[in-house]
Amino acid sequence: MSIASILLFSAIAAAPAGEQAAMADYNVIPLPRHIEVPGNDYFVLDGRTKIVRGEGVSEKDADFLSEYIRQSTGIECHVTGQARKNAIWLSVSASCGQNPDGYTVTVDKTGIHVSGNSSDGLFHGIQTIRKSLPVGEYDEVAFPYAEIMDEPRFRYRAMHLDVSRHFFDKDFVKKYIDLLALHNMNFFHWHLTDDQGWRIEIRKYPLLAEKSCRRDYTVIRRDYDRNDGTPYGEGCYFTQEDIREIVQYALDRHIRIIPEIDMPGHMLAALAAYPQFGCTGGPYKVWTRWGVSDQVLCAGKDETVQFAKDVLSEVADLFPCRYIHIGGDECPKTEWKECPDCQARIVSEGIQQGSAESVEDALQGWFMKEMTDFLKTKGKTVIGWDELLESGAAGDDMTVMSWRGTEGGIAAAEHRMDAIMVPHSYLYFDYYQTDDRSQEPFAAGGKVTVEKVFNYDPYDGIPEKDRKYIIGVQANLWTEFIAEPSHAEYMVIPRIDALSEVQWSPLESRQYADFLKRLRRQLNLYDMLGYNYARYVFE
Ligand code: ACM
Ligand code: ZN
Repeated sequence: MSIASILLFSAIAAAPAGEQAAMADYNVIPLPRHIEVPGNDYFVLDGRTKIVRGEGVSEKDADFLSEYIRQSTGIECHVTGQARKNAIWLSVSASCGQNPDGYTVTVDKTGIHVSGNSSDGLFHGIQTIRKSLPVGEYDEVAFPYAEIMDEPRFRYRAMHLDVSRHFFDKDFVKKYIDLLALHNMNFFHWHLTDDQGWRIEIRKYPLLAEKSCRRDYTVIRRDYDRNDGTPYGEGCYFTQEDIREIVQYALDRHIRIIPEIDMPGHMLAALAAYPQFGCTGGPYKVWTRWGVSDQVLCAGKDETVQFAKDVLSEVADLFPCRYIHIGGDECPKTEWKECPDCQARIVSEGIQQGSAESVEDALQGWFMKEMTDFLKTKGKTVIGWDELLESGAAGDDMTVMSWRGTEGGIAAAEHRMDAIMVPHSYLYFDYYQTDDRSQEPFAAGGKVTVEKVFNYDPYDGIPEKDRKYIIGVQANLWTEFIAEPSHAEYMVIPRIDALSEVQWSPLESRQYADFLKRLRRQLNLYDMLGYNYARYVFE
């Protein structure tokens, strides 16, 4: 089929694989803010089209576009320094406002002009071109003349991945980062440590990698009386070299990695290797079941506080991102109430209950603040789960991740603290996604459908005056019941598509039926890239 015959039949949809020409479609996910297609004229991209790298454009970004076009269509477009026509011009300039994530695309008879307000914005524009492409083997792709102006609704757009409960290796983490890039996200929250496994090499404490990565067995689902009898996690951790490689991989895709070292709870794996940092001295075992453990770091011992700072110090050096997540969720105070060291700390620091739920909660506040102040000396901003707000220590130098509901985010914003919305009832992707559980892999209890994600508004319940503190939105993937990459992909896609619209697109322009149409087209890309996904929205 030629371009002329496509125009004749005005076949807007992609031609099936094997055809020689097809149309680009700018109605991608997330939907650009403003798309104007003024008429019926087209620019035709083919093997003679060049990619022109303008001033301030990295070789990598230009190469990405070249590779995306080749992957999706088989057409080879080479990168060059200049061209007069038949080109895709890439540039960085503040053309469509101040938003660094913003970009414009103009398609006219000379070709395609993509201009980012920053290199991040350009990269998002490149992703839009990529997603506009038909998927198949083609000689030509027709791009309707167009003006696209786009920028995100929220400046923080992320997904989380738990690699503790089950380990996901370097290749999968990269594939996951690729998925985030495809959806215009700019942060990746990497949950690296928990009770069931420690997954990052810390040079000063080598046993964390050697010992804390391995548990003796794993319970069967949620049945704590039965287990699989199989050791899990031996050697399953990221070396510092792996971390540096992944950090760079993400940065190349304009994504910053936020490492999470969850403390002072969720530390049983570390305690198994270094029992002296607990209240009782142990012995401890890397946990073989799920839930919330009473065994936590001792906030009273100076050596424990030093341990936590030492770990954060190495982590701060490894991750250039300004944010570090220090957890703070689900830390029972059972041991602290009995521990002479913890009680002595309360006295020596003059810790008062104040607005906290108990004096031991205030002790957690003291611990979190100690870490926050330490990290500040390294130029870092702390993120913590919304329990931060109950410790009486939360200050406006901390960012709150609201997970138990939206209340944490609402309260944080009221106190002029930045907040990231991750309410579990909308954005926990380890939950079931349909009513028919018999057809789904075993999952954590709740239910979050694609439509529910899509209809979530992070500003719900936030007064106008506080909205500037809601910096963004993410979804979490906890992996107690997810052990395989293809299963992880199944849980994430297509809920991530709905999430990306919540993060990026204005509320007014979001229509679920229209989204589903665009999603159907996006599946071609997932098939081509080898991602697994849930199909129930189409069944
Ligand atoms: C969490 O889900 N415990 C943050
Ligand atoms: Zn203690």
